Amino acid sequence: MAILYSKNPSTNRIIWKTEKTPISDLDEIINTASKAQKDYASMTLEDRKNIFLRFSEIVQNEADTIANSIALENGKPFWEAKTEVNSLVSKIKAVFSSYEERIQEVTKELTNGRRSVTRFKPHGVLVVIGPYNFPMSMPNSHIMPALFAGNAVIFKPSEKTPMCACKYAELWERAGLPKGLLQVVYGDDRLGKALVKNNDINGVLFIGSRKAGVSISTALANKTDKICVLEMGGNSPLFVWDYENIRVALNIVIQSAFLSSGQRCSCARRLIVNSSIKETFVPALIEAINNIVIGDAFQTDPVPFMGPVIDQKILKNFFACYDKLKASGAKAILEPKHLTELGDNFVSPGLIDTTGVEVEDIEIFGPLLQVKFVDTFQEGLILADKTEFGLASGIVCTEKEKYDKFLDFITAGIVNWNQPLTGASTVAPFGGAKSSGNHRPAGYFSADYCSHAVASIESENTSTIGKISNGLKF
Ligand code: SIN
Repeated sequence: MAILYSKNPSTNRIIWKTEKTPISDLDEIINTASKAQKDYASMTLEDRKNIFLRFSEIVQNEADTIANSIALENGKPFWEAKTEVNSLVSKIKAVFSSYEERIQEVTKELTNGRRSVTRFKPHGVLVVIGPYNFPMSMPNSHIMPALFAGNAVIFKPSEKTPMCACKYAELWERAGLPKGLLQVVYGDDRLGKALVKNNDINGVLFIGSRKAGVSISTALANKTDKICVLEMGGNSPLFVWDYENIRVALNIVIQSAFLSSGQRCSCARRLIVNSSIKETFVPALIEAINNIVIGDAFQTDPVPFMGPVIDQKILKNFFACYDKLKASGAKAILEPKHLTELGDNFVSPGLIDTTGVEVEDIEIFGPLLQVKFVDTFQEGLILADKTEFGLASGIVCTEKEKYDKFLDFITAGIVNWNQPLTGASTVAPFGGAKSSGNHRPAGYFSADYCSHAVASIESENTSTIGKISNGLKF
């Protein structure tokens, strides 16, 4: 049996291991899911709700232990892991209310005693492929609505965070979710590809990189019977035009770019700054970044804002991208450093001036912010929208009129005003326009893609025929 090892990114020590799921087991796993789903789909919504409420109770009672697992395996600070745990709980209310609002059975009276009824059915067996940056809450944002709508789920977590996936599934089991409805499979992208290709699944709900998302979309291209939901990366702009209080602006920039060590799809990667505030804003930003506390997830004195990046692959790619930016003419404002004294995977945040330099439109996953200075508002708008991606965006400005222009101009799933780009709301849709997704917003709208509509025209009348069509006689 091949083994999948999980490491603590702060220490690089192995913390957990499990057997990799053999590809040859997938048929049986899907078959089990399919059988379990058939019984579950006929369970009342009230009974399903009760399982969710028990899940919520367990999570609240064991919040510290769960956060401990997240912080240990992902490396994010313990306080941040706690916010991830809290979002598992708050998601439940959002799932209930979005289902109630959006998946309503609707009856409309038609002529001649007929009626139109719209009902919804689950798809069947859905594959959820999750990322490592929120090892529980991101997959959960697909899994919860999928289960609530009556589907079975096969969850393939990132191979970087399998322990959290296992613990997450155990919570559902203890909450009374019937056996077979949520099964976790462990392995790398070969397992994910085999799962996506399996003809007996009914869809794939994905959150991760654009590269992986495109590969899923390609594999499903001619399988029109399977729902395909893609939440992919971004190269998101944050435009700082003007502010009243510099600390507010600094906080927005830092929370947007460096939270989770820049390992969020929603992170700002490009900072566009009004040249006329450059002299005051940039030195203050450098000082604020230099004061960011970086450290082990469990460090208490001082408590860190940023932990390590997840592994050497992410770290090496981060520095390779940075070197490429410099080679193309960009100038370091604050050089990111490999903080080997803290551990192999620690890196300090970087700031690089790319004004006037053509740079690749890619997502650099890590704590790096590319800055461009602009002389006019219009120039800033054009630069902000100059990307293939369209996940998140934001502007810091004092005038609502400027925000309205930005909102109008930008194509993105998230457009914020005087707020960080990170920290999506549970009561709003979440998803990318352009190449950041396939235009099926998740978040509050997940209920939409977890069911399919069934439209019926119905009549109790079997005794009177009414008008017979031209050309018929009987
Ligand atoms: C993400 O996109 O990776 C997380 C979304 C968020 O910042 O809440």
